[in-house]
Amino acid sequence: MKGIILAGGNGTRLQPLTFVSSKQLAPVYDKPMIYYPLSMLMLAGIRDILIITRPTELPLFRALFGDGRQLGLRIDYAEQDEPRGIADAFRIGADHIRGEQCALVLGDNLFHGSNLPSLLRRTALKMGGCVLFGHEVADPHRFGVAEVDARGKLVSIEEKPSRPRSNLAIPGMYFFDAQVTDITKNLTPSPRGELEITDVLQAYLDREAAELVWLGRGVTWLDTGTHETLLEASTFVRDTQRRQGTRLGCVEEIAMYMGYIAPDDCHALGAEMSSSPYGQYVMERARSFSTGMPPTALSENL
Ligand code: DAU
Repeated sequence: MKGIILAGGNGTRLQPLTFVSSKQLAPVYDKPMIYYPLSMLMLAGIRDILIITRPTELPLFRALFGDGRQLGLRIDYAEQDEPRGIADAFRIGADHIRGEQCALVLGDNLFHGSNLPSLLRRTALKMGGCVLFGHEVADPHRFGVAEVDARGKLVSIEEKPSRPRSNLAIPGMYFFDAQVTDITKNLTPSPRGELEITDVLQAYLDREAAELVWLGRGVTWLDTGTHETLLEASTFVRDTQRRQGTRLGCVEEIAMYMGYIAPDDCHALGAEMSSSPYGQYVMERARSFSTGMPPTALSENL
């Protein structure tokens, strides 16, 4: 399965932070925002990843991750010169997807929760059509919203409805089969001028090929698109890390636990940042791993 991280957009709601840099590079406590969605793809077992960004910021993302080899990944980059909508990712990424299944994650979405890694791996293994997730929220009108019938079956999808039919928001992470590029070819922009992800999901629903997977209460999902939610996300990461003594979205550690890189390589990545607590943590995890910590239990909390 291929992965795409959509990390473009003008980030207008975060100005002036986003005048000369990308929103998805803004710090969420101790690491750039994009580490969190990248972690999700890695934990789902996806190693071939396309990052889509504004042309001006593409060199910054490339400077951060290079070709991804140090994390045992293959990372490519593509430009989106105008924010034409989330579904534009499948047009830009058509060559990358090339007839395979694909997971799309939005560069400003952060997920954390026990069992989430195994849920993602199971989803990636057994999916057909498309899989979207549902998460209960207090303010569904801010998101894509899913409506389900009494048996929990998905019946409708709406983008930011003024009168939501449920409180089940659709987070920015989706799994698709290879049909997604053809479906997107036939999309037309919505009244607000964007190729809407909800229209792609609706096309799958019309074919009875859309599955909704509930993210239970044990999962935290944060969308970091405003100053307030950005601060909330940082506070959440700091508090969780402090309590647990582990780090969220630590891509070096995840690469090691997933078997993408060896503990020695992970240690070397940490050593390059040894002046920071983050780098020291990466080195410490690599040392513990070498001395036999059980990886499966731990990998549920990364
Ligand atoms: O966060 C989940 C929500 O994300 C979903 O529930 C909605 O269905 C979905 O439309 C989206 O809503 P947002 O209002 O958060 O979308 P936004 O325009 O902020 O874009 C989300 C991310 O995608 C953001 O990091 C910027 C990036 N983006 C967006 C567009 C429209 C691009 O890179 N290119 C684009 O053309």
